[in-house]
Amino acid sequence: MKYTVIIPAAGLGSRMGLGFNKVLLEIDGEPVIKRTVRQFEEDPDCEAIHLAVRSEETDIMNKMFENSRKIAGIHIGGAERQDSIYNALINVKNAEYVFVHDGARPFVTTDVLKRLKDKVTETGAVICGVKTKDTLKRVNDGKVKETLVRDEVVAVHTPQGFKYSILRQAYEHSKANKLEVTDDSMMVEAIGKEVYLVDSTYDNIKITTSEDLQLAHMILKGK
Ligand code: CTP
Ligand code: MG
Repeated sequence: MKYTVIIPAAGLGSRMGLGFNKVLLEIDGEPVIKRTVRQFEEDPDCEAIHLAVRSEETDIMNKMFENSRKIAGIHIGGAERQDSIYNALINVKNAEYVFVHDGARPFVTTDVLKRLKDKVTETGAVICGVKTKDTLKRVNDGKVKETLVRDEVVAVHTPQGFKYSILRQAYEHSKANKLEVTDDSMMVEAIGKEVYLVDSTYDNIKITTSEDLQLAHMILKGK
């Protein structure tokens, strides 16, 4: 199978508190976004890479990826993650399958990609995740409302993979209905399509807060 990947990198990285977009932060001498893109450059099944970037950062991103064979478009992102992805999605040409992967998640492995590729060709919609190590509870106003059955919950990562037609329909539906979502799967779930799950790895972290940087250095050391 062949697929196109959309990588949103147009956030502010506010929780990281760096004063600049966290995807530009260097870990061991290489920017986070460059590491993330490299995972897909090196996957022979990935045919094209579309990035969504902040308008202020188009020059730096164009320069960073000027020698990349697979970058098919560098698009201006929007206010929310889903707006950034939409701006790229409408510019994807001739792709049967589209993966979406956070620019801030540099440690996805070939094994995870393989599981996603196998499942998406079979089902049309797949996400990856890991079992939660902690017990999760739903709380409101400082009070416990419900304890979730631990075997039934997963912490969801990216990549998430879909047939292009399904993801496009899901995005159009979510735009028309002004849905507020936290991942792409939620939009696909909202159009009644079943979404399947494969295993991710605990290392497939999203660089979100400053603690994640120490973790990132440890993951790199272990590789
Ligand atoms: N993203 C994007 N466009 C936005 C918001 C987020 O392309 N308007 C991207 C980020 O660059 C990141 C990914 O979506 O690669 C996941 O989002 P998140 O971890 O929330 O990153 P930020 O929004 O940048 O961070 P924060 O929420 O702390 O500001
Ligand atoms: Mg965010």
